[in-house]
Amino acid sequence: MGSRRPGGRVTLELVAPAKLTLSLRILGTRADGFHDLEALTVSIDAPADELTVETGPPGVRLEVSGPAAAGVPDDDRNLVVQAACAVLPDGEGIVVGLRKQIRPGSGLGGGSSDDAVVLRACADAYGLDPQMVSETAAAVGSDVPFCLHGGPAWMRGRGEIIEPVSLPVPLPVVVVVPPFSIATPPVYRAWDELGGPRAERSIDPPAAVAALVDVLANDLEPAAERVEPQLAPFRDAIEAAAGATALLAGSGSACWIPFEDPGEGRAAVTRIEAALGVPAYLGVTIT
Ligand code: C5P
Repeated sequence: MGSRRPGGRVTLELVAPAKLTLSLRILGTRADGFHDLEALTVSIDAPADELTVETGPPGVRLEVSGPAAAGVPDDDRNLVVQAACAVLPDGEGIVVGLRKQIRPGSGLGGGSSDDAVVLRACADAYGLDPQMVSETAAAVGSDVPFCLHGGPAWMRGRGEIIEPVSLPVPLPVVVVVPPFSIATPPVYRAWDELGGPRAERSIDPPAAVAALVDVLANDLEPAAERVEPQLAPFRDAIEAAAGATALLAGSGSACWIPFEDPGEGRAAVTRIEAALGVPAYLGVTIT
């Protein structure tokens, strides 16, 4: 997928899709402080970050742009840089252009998807050992192994155990991103403090996932609502505009609604954007 620029450099143009937990069950707290999960997770085509990767002077240079770039570091605080540095052979270098469309702290795994894209690009370019790449992915973050593999899949353990599944038909979803972010660690801490609650709300699974799961629910919802008081009113406003139940994406802050039919989803996007004035995306699962 590379394009050749004047001067002979090859630029890879890559897409980092959002990750969406359709169902997120927390099974318990682990000795390492993480939590055991059982999450039916998919990759969706929108929103998505866009990346370019090309060879450069030794090391990793990152240039961040795009509508969701605010607050995203372009140095080694960014896990893209850490992941690439961990796998690049000595003396090699890459320049990564990252156009952020997925809001950080929205629960859509944008950063993890970016990390996975760059790891895959390095693996392809330098013929890296797949085991080393997988281990690096798991060390970088709990969602990176899923993003490296892509969905749909069950995520288990801390997130590093990936069990691929197939959907009989694609699933359209509407994803709504609020103007506030939620950091993940306080949400898991709140889940512990609340005594490990199960989700209070659920959605009957649409046809695409009916054979895989009894209900769609997110056990982090009560904890995320405690951490961020703006979340419940935001979700109520989405539900009022869409006329349908919305669930939290991951640890938040985005909310999402499944649809059987993309036309219904498109109409919901229009109503939600008009009522709330925030971006809503009609995405579909990527197989
Ligand atoms: O692995 P990652 O750095 O993405 O995780 C962010 C935070 O989310 C962790 O520091 C931890 O607080 C929480 N987490 C967890 N259990 C998981 C995944 C994440 O407790 N399975």
